[in-house]
Amino acid sequence: MSITTVGVVGSGTMGAGIAQVVAQSGFHVLLFDMNEEIVSRSLSGIMGRLERLVEKGKLSKNELEEIRKRIQTSTHLCELKSCHLVIEAASEKIGIKKEIFQKLDEHCSAETILVTNTSSFSITEIASITRRPERVAGMHFFNPVPLMPLVEVIRGVETADEIIENLVQFASGLQKVPVTCEDTPGFIVNRVARPYYNEALKIYGERLAAFDQIDRIMKKAGKFKMGPFELQDLIGIDINFSTTESVYQGFFGEGRFRPHFYQQRMMQSGKLGRKVGAGYYHYEN
Ligand SMILES: NC(=O)c1ccc[n+]([C@@H]2O[C@H](COP(=O)([O-])OP(=O)(O)OC[C@H]3O[C@@H](n4cnc5c(N)ncnc54)[C@H](O)[C@@H]3O)[C@@H](O)[C@H]2O)c1
Repeated sequence: MSITTVGVVGSGTMGAGIAQVVAQSGFHVLLFDMNEEIVSRSLSGIMGRLERLVEKGKLSKNELEEIRKRIQTSTHLCELKSCHLVIEAASEKIGIKKEIFQKLDEHCSAETILVTNTSSFSITEIASITRRPERVAGMHFFNPVPLMPLVEVIRGVETADEIIENLVQFASGLQKVPVTCEDTPGFIVNRVARPYYNEALKIYGERLAAFDQIDRIMKKAGKFKMGPFELQDLIGIDINFSTTESVYQGFFGEGRFRPHFYQQRMMQSGKLGRKVGAGYYHYEN
């Protein structure tokens, strides 16, 4: 089946980025979220980013108009029924994802491919909610989506080969670099990344170094692009904590993946990072 219309469920940090990249690549997008205010804010964010590309001469005004016409918003999940592919990018809570997949399975055509952008949950578990587990897979984009080339294409236990091939082709059409992986906790990148955050949190928790000092050391001496605390702020502390918890549970409590309580305290404080203007650091606007 050729993909021309793509639904995106959840219009936060990732959903907005995915919708932007998909529309920029020539597909029609239906961007869904729970209410009008959230989805309009997300669309304004996308337009703001595209306008900056026009100012920099990387996009023409005409192209911007064409992209804008290809993005529609929705607050009714049933409107996604004719999408060829739906990418779910809602909050990292298994209950929310299962409910969305159950509804998508009811509303969408039997041909629709359903994928989740989950950072860590089992694709097989999410697929099992539907009557089409062979057409369900993971498609894990990275933040910020317009800039990050990698997309992990994840095969659940029942995902059909042709669906994986279709998604690899789709990701290549977005000018991304697809890497296929199996349905293991955290897949590849988030599994490798867990100790980066956890050890940094332990060093900070033991008062061996301040968080901004750890970031500076990793960047200046380690030549990492971002330090572990800056990265948590970018990702969203709630999202990163949920991912850590789920990888830990996914490995049946293996000690090296155990979350640090300080990450939970940050989440409980509501200082979730850039998206709310404060996390480890403060952000204007
Ligand atoms: N933030 C990252 O760096 C990153 C990177 C890769 C993957 N992810 C994954 O992408 C997904 C989204 O993360 P995010 O950072 O964009 O989160 P976010 O908090 O920025 O946005 C989540 C969005 O989901 C919406 N939502 C909540 N419940 C919903 C429902 N029932 N139906 C529809 N929408 C609903 C919220 O209104 C919000 O707009 C998560 O699964 C996360 O693990 C995040």
